[in-house]
Amino acid sequence: MNRDGKGQRGVVIAGVGSYLPERILTNADLTKIVDTSDEWIRTRTGISERRIARDDQAASDLAAEASRHALTMAGLAAEDVEMIVVATVTPDMVFPNTACFVQKHIGARKAFCFDLEAACSGFLYSLETARQFVASGTVKNALVIGAEKLSCVLDWQDRTTCVLFGDGAGAVVLKPTTTGHGILGTVMGSDGTLAELLTIPGGGSRTPVSAQSMADRMHYMKMAGKDVFKHAVRCMTDAAQQVLARCGLSADDVTCVIPHQANMRIVQAVSDRLGIGTDRFCINLDRVGNMSAASVPVALDEAVRANRFKAGDRLLFVTFGGGFTWGATLVEWGV
Ligand code: ACO
Repeated sequence: MNRDGKGQRGVVIAGVGSYLPERILTNADLTKIVDTSDEWIRTRTGISERRIARDDQAASDLAAEASRHALTMAGLAAEDVEMIVVATVTPDMVFPNTACFVQKHIGARKAFCFDLEAACSGFLYSLETARQFVASGTVKNALVIGAEKLSCVLDWQDRTTCVLFGDGAGAVVLKPTTTGHGILGTVMGSDGTLAELLTIPGGGSRTPVSAQSMADRMHYMKMAGKDVFKHAVRCMTDAAQQVLARCGLSADDVTCVIPHQANMRIVQAVSDRLGIGTDRFCINLDRVGNMSAASVPVALDEAVRANRFKAGDRLLFVTFGGGFTWGATLVEWGV
């Protein structure tokens, strides 16, 4: 069981699953809502369309669908799940946590449940948090989910943000392993001095809901796009290089990079700096846009279902998001 010399068990991704809402919102549809064009959106971002959840679907509903697929692949009954972590910036409610709603939906009555908020890095932070619980033997398995209904926090009058995002959920099941496969390492970082550059400022204790906060559209996402872009490229590249160095590996050892799907130009810049061609990246942002915490697990699930990986392949997850938060995780595929 020991793989790190610290008495910790190896931890493997034993199942993956995802869920995308049925409704597709194309760039052409967006031109009827804001002053934009398919050409602008595609050339600036690489996005052609995104999914939008139904009014009666909350983040936990998307998460539950993704979780059922992941549990099936892992051969784990919901009632045997011991821990559920949901990464989201669009929880069903301020409290209780969304993971508790997922527990109810799937019938995972033995699990303890909590949410973790690290914006677009939330899934990666949650994965490492849950890995530590499994590695220490505290739990025998964990369900880790990234789920977002971003369409309800987008300002549909702001063309600089509403064209970028979509709804969806992805989930993984973690289990201990003795095979040597699994999560090899993770690095995470944050810089709160830049927190104001990407926010939903209203609705919290700083600016509680009021008629004024509503009139000021404070409950929608605000983003300094150019600053986000610049920091995302630098932090994602640095995190990827750090986790490779920590694991004693190089870019040549990476089979596939699964990046946070914010923008194709960010992905291209990270690819150039890492010296890993985009043919070795899993990219779905053209079809789903930026799904924040759901981006990495959905892209992972789509690649797994397309039989893109074989045992021993090395996958590099790399993320960046509000906070700012960032991180990179290296996984050796296989169970
Ligand atoms: N359609 C048409 N024109 C637009 C649109 C739009 N949807 N949005 C902005 N424009 C206009 C601007 O108003 C501006 O016009 P102006 O020159 O007359 O003022 C012009 O296009 C250029 O705007 P810029 O902001 O300079 O465009 P830029 O090339 O920087 O691209 C973008 C903007 C796509 C937002 C880019 O900065 C970006 O991708 N940033 C990173 C955003 C991101 O990925 N955020 C999420 C990461 S973290 C997370 O996932 C939470």
